[in-house]
Amino acid sequence: MAGRGTRFLPATKASPKEMLPVVDKPLIQYAVEEAIAAGVTKLVFVTGASKRAIEDHFDTDPELERALTDGGKTELLESIKNIIPPHVSCIYIRQGEPLGLGHAVLCARPAVGDEPFFVHLADDLIVGEPACLAQLASEYARHGSSVVAVEEVPHETTSSYGIVAVDKTDEGQKLTRIVEKPAPKDAPSNLAVVGRYLLAPEIFDKLESTGRGAGGEIQLTDAISDLLSDAAVFAHPFSGDRYDCGSKLGYLQATVSCGLAHAEVGANFRAYLENLLAD
Ligand code: G1P
Repeated sequence: MAGRGTRFLPATKASPKEMLPVVDKPLIQYAVEEAIAAGVTKLVFVTGASKRAIEDHFDTDPELERALTDGGKTELLESIKNIIPPHVSCIYIRQGEPLGLGHAVLCARPAVGDEPFFVHLADDLIVGEPACLAQLASEYARHGSSVVAVEEVPHETTSSYGIVAVDKTDEGQKLTRIVEKPAPKDAPSNLAVVGRYLLAPEIFDKLESTGRGAGGEIQLTDAISDLLSDAAVFAHPFSGDRYDCGSKLGYLQATVSCGLAHAEVGANFRAYLENLLAD
């Protein structure tokens, strides 16, 4: 989460884009909850400049807890306690220079070690049951290879994504190619990688050796492409709805959709929208 969120300026000038709330939780909390639901016990946050609010959000706040306890605000108290359950640990790593997603993942190497790990990009909010990371974990359990979540996108938007070509086998959709942000005329398909990956630790050596790619950055996509010569990587067309919360329209769509589904305000919000649209 070291990106500056320039598509969302000025909102993201002093506050990280991952702290933008969707109804009542910041995007990063949705990410953490999704990871914990998929069985994660170690969370590694790769952060950059002006991201301190993220650490504060997941830290305990005894003063606030005391004030809520004294005020008898039990429900609010529960909502801020145990966002991170006791069996889950948090590690924060600073990405010194913004050298790209691949570089950010490489920064996490010392904390991840030699085991498979998820990569979660919090501005892609995915709503679905089971959650997207849990779906990737099931896929990994099935064939023991890296998995990337994919979705079909309009052909004219391929230059915003990593795009894959796949071979449909009995085991699943095996990647034959992956290209970072190709122009529509060069794209091998319209199957785009979204912000969820479950990667074998061999990816780290590939990240060490892959040079700078699209946009002059070290690209995770290029390292995955290098990995294809040694190991299988599968594409998983996840079930669920994805909102690109790094864009204004995607963020608004997420807010409306999560607002309508919200236990406390959903019914009133629906009535409000119906009224608004009927005018
Ligand atoms: C990154 C990846 C890209 C992937 C996308 C998903 O791009 O580089 O391959 O498709 O995330 O959200 P970014 O959106 O950070 O430019």
